Amino acid sequence: MTSTPGPALEIVDLHVEVEGAPILRGVSLTVAPGELHALMGPNGSGKSTLANTLLANPAYTVTSGRILLEGEDVTGLAPNERAERGLFLGFQHPEEIPGVSVLNFLRQAMAARKGINDFSVLEVRLQLLDWTKRLGLDNNFSDRYLNEGFSGGEKKRNELLQMALMEPDVAVLDETDSGLDIDALRLVSDGIAEIRKDRPQLAILLITHYQRILEYLTPDRVHVLIDGRIVESGGPELARKVEAGGFDSFRSEELTP
Ligand SMILES: Nc1ncnc2c1ncn2[C@@H]1O[C@H](COP(=O)(O)OP(=O)(O)OP(=O)(O)O)[C@@H](O)[C@H]1O
Ligand SMILES: [Mg+2]
Repeated sequence: MTSTPGPALEIVDLHVEVEGAPILRGVSLTVAPGELHALMGPNGSGKSTLANTLLANPAYTVTSGRILLEGEDVTGLAPNERAERGLFLGFQHPEEIPGVSVLNFLRQAMAARKGINDFSVLEVRLQLLDWTKRLGLDNNFSDRYLNEGFSGGEKKRNELLQMALMEPDVAVLDETDSGLDIDALRLVSDGIAEIRKDRPQLAILLITHYQRILEYLTPDRVHVLIDGRIVESGGPELARKVEAGGFDSFRSEELTP
């Protein structure tokens, strides 16, 4: 029996509360393997809430709805169980972890993802060298402590380094373009393109305020999130509409019954 491959990521009518306040109010979204979807929305619309919920951050309570990874309901699963199933999340404000080098962090993370206990340092180092080069990072980058003293651009590229080595099936990237100058933005979008070359089946949900990064990475779909609801979905032209008219035009659409 053959089965057609289902969506890589499916979010079904998701309602999420933070400290008792409803933030997401029925978000549905389906990303097929190999697709890049952009989620846009103004400050406070719930974009990072969605990312945190996908990560299973305990501060975010799913009151109804479901999250599926390759057809499997993962709504009740812990962060590591989701990572094992191929979910990767990049953060808006990645944490500094003093005393943990990029290399050691990646070694542990890769061991967890790939179910191998003793992931050899040499093997990880070789892959790291390859990817630091491909992502335009400094050679000794992997010996530095995680996010300590990293510039905004370095943090973002470190995130991409993790993403490349973890070989996820679904990647959710929050605010990849925030705080990046135009050259760094270019490097990040080139990095994402580089990773997609190796993993053509990788599904990406890219969370962003601005249309800028979408000039380099053409999304298959664009979704506009306002007040915890997706008010419009469309092709790349939707991002240009946001850039031209801001989010206010979508707000007035939302108010019409
Ligand atoms: N951990 C939290 N504790 C309390 N409130 C929160 C928490 N996380 C999110 N919220 C609230 O949920 C709402 C949505 O926030 P969220 O961070 O998801 O927005 P966003 O779309 O990512 O905004 P931005 O574009 O500024 O990053 C806000 O009102 C915010 O204050
Ligand atoms: Mg945010």
